[in-house]
Amino acid sequence: MKKIRKAVIPVAGLGTRFLPATKAIPKEMLTIVDRPTIQYIVEEVVASGIEEVVLITSAGKSAIENHFDYDFQLDTVLKEKNKSTLREELANISNLIDVVSVRQKEPLGLGHAIWMARNVIGDEPFLVLLGDDLVRSKVPCCKQMIELYNEVGESIVAIQRVPKDQTFQYGIIEGEETEQDRTFKVKRMVEKPAPGTSDSDMAIIGRYLLMPEIFDLLSKTTPGHGGEIQLTDALQALSIRRGMYAYEFIGNRYDAGDKLGYLKAIVDFSLEHPTLGGPFKEYLQTICAGGKCSVPS
Ligand code: UTP
Repeated sequence: MKKIRKAVIPVAGLGTRFLPATKAIPKEMLTIVDRPTIQYIVEEVVASGIEEVVLITSAGKSAIENHFDYDFQLDTVLKEKNKSTLREELANISNLIDVVSVRQKEPLGLGHAIWMARNVIGDEPFLVLLGDDLVRSKVPCCKQMIELYNEVGESIVAIQRVPKDQTFQYGIIEGEETEQDRTFKVKRMVEKPAPGTSDSDMAIIGRYLLMPEIFDLLSKTTPGHGGEIQLTDALQALSIRRGMYAYEFIGNRYDAGDKLGYLKAIVDFSLEHPTLGGPFKEYLQTICAGGKCSVPS
């Protein structure tokens, strides 16, 4: 079984749900407490033992590449000013992992963005993490998936349960339970099902572990929902060709590309912050003192 060494992070989308904030700033660079969203995602990749990140970028997203690069001029100024802690912090970011970028010239959909990584990935299984999907968990979500892959040796999509009236917003999996904990064999997949057309509440989130055959299937995928090349259509074909598992990961997921999801992430990540968590909780308790909302004590 081939080892999982590389992770693809598509960040070439337009981020229209977050306009006007995302007109000139990539949504992946919006800050959660003290780091941009994309840094949490790359940190998850690193903590899962991955060796190389492939960013799928587009015009206007160079801030993301710069964030993980070494800035000679800034480093020189910080050195002259004896700001050693800051220098170390910045060096840690640029030394996190090897980052390669590939341009997606037009936003033709998530499936097309992943297909752009074919030459860099080659013939090995790999991870995909969406650049605006955050997971907070004790064991990194990708690590949980790699552990399952080491047992089942096939593609895996991470899922979470969602209320039935919200399934139309997600890619939905229909599957059968397996012997592995929290794991289902995928039977059918449907992108954003119309209300009443699927009984399942298992929604695909932005973490995938894929066999390289996905590239061949993506090259044959015609534009689907919204006129975009949908990853879900190629996943469905891959599940038929080779089999696929859905894994109900342990942790909390936040759609940081959506305004409400982003606010929830800020609150939960702030409450956990080693120095800001305490004072922030006190502040929330003060504003909730009227008894209208409850904050964990
Ligand atoms: P989204 O649909 O959430 O991102 O795509 P978006 O298109 O940027 O945002 P909205 O919906 O307009 O607000 C999921 C992921 O796929 C990437 C996005 O960057 C995001 O990480 N993506 C999407 C691409 O890289 N290329 C595309 O053509 C489409």
